[in-house]
Amino acid sequence: MAQSIHGKIALITGGAVRIGRAAALALAAEGAHVIVHYHRSGEEAEALCDELRARGVQAWPLRASFSRREEYATLIARALEMAGGLDILVNNASIFPRDTLDSVTLESVMDNLEVNAWAPFVLGRAFAGAVERGTIINLLDSRLSGYDWAHVGYFFSKQVLELMTRMMAVKFAPNITVNAVAPGLILPPPGEDARYLDQLIATVPLQAHGEPEDIADAIVFLAKSRYCTGEVIYVDGGRHLVEYARAAPPS
Ligand SMILES: NC(=O)c1ccc[n+]([C@@H]2O[C@H](COP(=O)([O-])OP(=O)(O)OC[C@H]3O[C@@H](n4cnc5c(N)ncnc54)[C@H](OP(=O)(O)O)[C@@H]3O)[C@@H](O)[C@H]2O)c1
Repeated sequence: MAQSIHGKIALITGGAVRIGRAAALALAAEGAHVIVHYHRSGEEAEALCDELRARGVQAWPLRASFSRREEYATLIARALEMAGGLDILVNNASIFPRDTLDSVTLESVMDNLEVNAWAPFVLGRAFAGAVERGTIINLLDSRLSGYDWAHVGYFFSKQVLELMTRMMAVKFAPNITVNAVAPGLILPPPGEDARYLDQLIATVPLQAHGEPEDIADAIVFLAKSRYCTGEVIYVDGGRHLVEYARAAPPS
């Protein structure tokens, strides 16, 4: 039985733009108040908060860098102080740098791990320690079922976040649920245009790319779910079912 999230307070990391923004709007449409975490997109975060308030919920922008330990270590405490409570944590912020098995460095692996896996875990642990009941939703990637030869550090970090999703689900039960959404082809990476998606559509069984709202729908489903924990929902048109398992390393 789905539970209402009307009046609940959600923190979305990287929430000012792209998929995070769609998630903020979708949660607000269910009546949730939203803390929009941002790093560089301060103007977009302010504008989104204005838009959310105009839709009848409370909204607060909140800045932190996930490359600076002292900033993300205090984020949950700052969010609680700002909003007076917290019920939903969406770990959406991420970096996606290019590297291959030939070029990847320890520095790149550590950067990816810190922003994409360690900071979400630190937020999750602080959240679970501070709230009586709540739900955590981590953003993964449908490539997890295979390989990503062009973003190796990113790929490692999302594998770790998937593992942490399951471990946190067990550790934080029974009062906190921890689940994940694994998007497929949704938006081109910053700096790429629609051709990036068009070239890859043939790899998707449903023969189309998804929209940020498709991911937001899954986030809302998990935020409202009473009985799902440790689960990963692939929202990728079936892409994880094909290709990656067979994909050979690039020559
Ligand atoms: N786009 C896709 O098709 C796709 C596919 C598979 C998986 N995903 C996953 O879905 C999630 C959302 O995707 P997206 O494409 O919308 O993400 P994105 O645009 O690549 O990144 C989301 C936000 O992360 C924040 N961020 C980046 N570096 C940060 C740092 N050092 N400290 C704090 N925040 C930082 C940025 O916030 P500011 O803008 O405020 O700086 C950025 O807007 C990500 O976890 C991604 O891995 C997306």
